[in-house]
Amino acid sequence: MSKMPPEMLDHYSTGYEEGRLSNDMGRLELARSQEIILRYFPEPFAKIADIGGGPGVYSCWLARLGYQSHLVDATPLHVEQARRASASQLNHPMASARVGDARLLDFEDASFDATLLFGPLYHLTEKQDRIKALSEARRITRPGGVVLCAVISRFASTMDGIARFFLDDAEFQSIVERDLTDGQHRNPANHPHYFTTAFFHHPEEIQSEVEEAGLAHEKNLPVEGPFWTMGNLAEHWRNEGRRERLMQAIRSIENEQSLIGASAHIIAVARKKD
Ligand SMILES: C[S@@+](CC[C@H](N)C(=O)[O-])C[C@H]1O[C@@H](n2cnc3c(N)ncnc32)[C@H](O)[C@@H]1O
Repeated sequence: MSKMPPEMLDHYSTGYEEGRLSNDMGRLELARSQEIILRYFPEPFAKIADIGGGPGVYSCWLARLGYQSHLVDATPLHVEQARRASASQLNHPMASARVGDARLLDFEDASFDATLLFGPLYHLTEKQDRIKALSEARRITRPGGVVLCAVISRFASTMDGIARFFLDDAEFQSIVERDLTDGQHRNPANHPHYFTTAFFHHPEEIQSEVEEAGLAHEKNLPVEGPFWTMGNLAEHWRNEGRRERLMQAIRSIENEQSLIGASAHIIAVARKKD
């Protein structure tokens, strides 16, 4: 099994990931992902695995709701941050947090009621590695249990390039050119805003990978929909009525497959067969 790319660990070494879901785009990603999780997860006190759980935002939130959440992540700094966040919510700690690789999990077969795979599928650049991660998520989940898998859209960097003027830079132009060609995202100069080694899925690739790993694919859902690059996102978020209308707008088009690639993140809803 290949090692995690050192540039990924380097990219996350600033610790920025801990606060990412609190910025404008991040808040929309978090709120929609939480909505999707609650739609598909069983009731608390279910036992859940958060694979690629990063600094623990989802695991800690789920623990506060009464779930037994177990986090695994390949970045030691993120596991440290997750442990700290868990320790700060005294009455609702996560059940466990450990450094590990989504492709080979140290958990028993069928030992979780539901599993999150929010991270590994866009950092594993080889298809066979993504299938391994999906197969491990299937193995540890009980029959009938849901596996929610996050991927990044093939078109996300193009949209971000326009929204944040990154496409003014010839270096970003060539990064995007390759993204659009084969989904292989590379940031050779380690520019802090240009992300790190990753794979961006074409929406049509997701279902077949999930199925190749032996999971039943139910649907693909847009996380942010096409709205994540809007310049007035912060204003929408500050105003409760607008925030709810934004969330409702995403819900109202979430089954429209022709729009799904415009969402930065897509969640594949998969289930372990009985
Ligand atoms: C952008 S963060 C996402 C964190 C969190 N799940 C979220 O959705 O906000 C991606 C995470 O995936 C982790 N990751 C990438 N490849 C992994 C692998 N093969 N096994 C475990 N974790 C992995 C990274 O270390 C990082 O913490």
